[in-house]
Parts: sequence; C-alpha cells; structure tokens
Amino acid sequence: MLSRFHPGTSPALLLLHGTGGDENDLIPLGHLLRPGAALLSPRGQVLENGQPRFFRRLAPGVFDEDDIIRRTHELADFVADQSARQNLGKIIAVGYSNGANIAAAMLLLRPHALSGAILFRAMLPLEPPQPPQLDQTPVLLLAGRDDNMIPQDSTQRLAVRLEHAGANMTLEWRNTGHRLEQTEFTLAREWLDRHFR
Ligand code: MLT
Repeated sequence: MLSRFHPGTSPALLLLHGTGGDENDLIPLGHLLRPGAALLSPRGQVLENGQPRFFRRLAPGVFDEDDIIRRTHELADFVADQSARQNLGKIIAVGYSNGANIAAAMLLLRPHALSGAILFRAMLPLEPPQPPQLDQTPVLLLAGRDDNMIPQDSTQRLAVRLEHAGANMTLEWRNTGHRLEQTEFTLAREWLDRHFR
C-alpha cells in the first residue's frame, strides 16, 4: 500500500485522507495534533474518476458494503504489519470524511486495530455483522450541522453504535459544513492530550 511514514513517539497517528486526497494531505495535521508522534499515512487504494478513496461507493453516501469490508480488513492488516515492523505501539486513527468513514469501519469490524480515533465528518459506513467490543476506546467524532455530504442521522447512528459497543464517545456538533475549521484542531489536540499522555 502506498504510504508515508514518519518515525516518532507512541501513540502513533494513522492519518486517513478524504476523497481526492492522498498520503501527504494530513501530515501537517498530524504534526499539529501531536508534535513528534510517529505518523503513518496510507493512500486510499480505490480510484473514483481518478480520485483516491478508501472504499468504493455507488453514489454519494451509498457505499459498496462488500468493498468496505474487504478494504477495511486490508487496511487493518497493513496497519498491524507496519506496527510490528516499526514498533508503533498504540495507534490512533485521525480521519477526514471518507478517511473517517473507513476508520469508523475499522472500529466496527476490527475493534482491536486501534486504541482511539478522531473522526472528522464521519457517518455509519455499514452495520457490523456483530456488535464489536470497544472496551472504553476513546473516540472523538466532530460533525458539522451544515454538512451537505454527511447526513446528520447517520453520524448520530454511528455515535450510538460505538457507544453501545463500549467506546468512550465524545460527539461534538459544530456550526459548520463539510470543511474543517481551525478551532476543531485545537479541540482534537486537547482531546488527544486528555486521553493519551
Ligand atoms: C464517503 O464517501 O466516504 C463520504 O460520502 C464522504 C466523502 O465523500 O468522502
């Protein structure tokens, strides 16, 4: 899998870009959220009109579930492999949009792959075949009230699923759209400092 890796401290941040992004996009955000942390930033392997994504969709907001399942396991295996090679220790996903959705799928399908997650603009990517056991895994979900890409009820459903699975959930609704705002980075950084010293 094409990716960038920056060695650094543990926990490592797994950076997952949005549709049309690549492995370079979230590197500055990773440095900002936890200066000096190890960063692992893969590129989504699906192309939609030339734009990288982490799984196939049939239409905006309509996902190919078989593909999500396959790609989620592929990504989780890749992360486990890199983690063993680079001795990464705990891994926290930081995903935006499509990247946040595959991070959510990892929490639902491979609950032990991540020690925490920051999900910017995520929705419920699929119904897991069985409820995962998340044992207090900290998850921060940052959602925009005026987001026209991510349906509010789907974000809400994701938060409920994760909470029922035992995650330590924080859901924050912001008066904003799909794009991220600077204040959210401060919030995410503070959340990270609170949960992972
Ligand atoms: C997705 O396809 O994962 C969501 O609709 C968000 C996006 O467009 O990336």
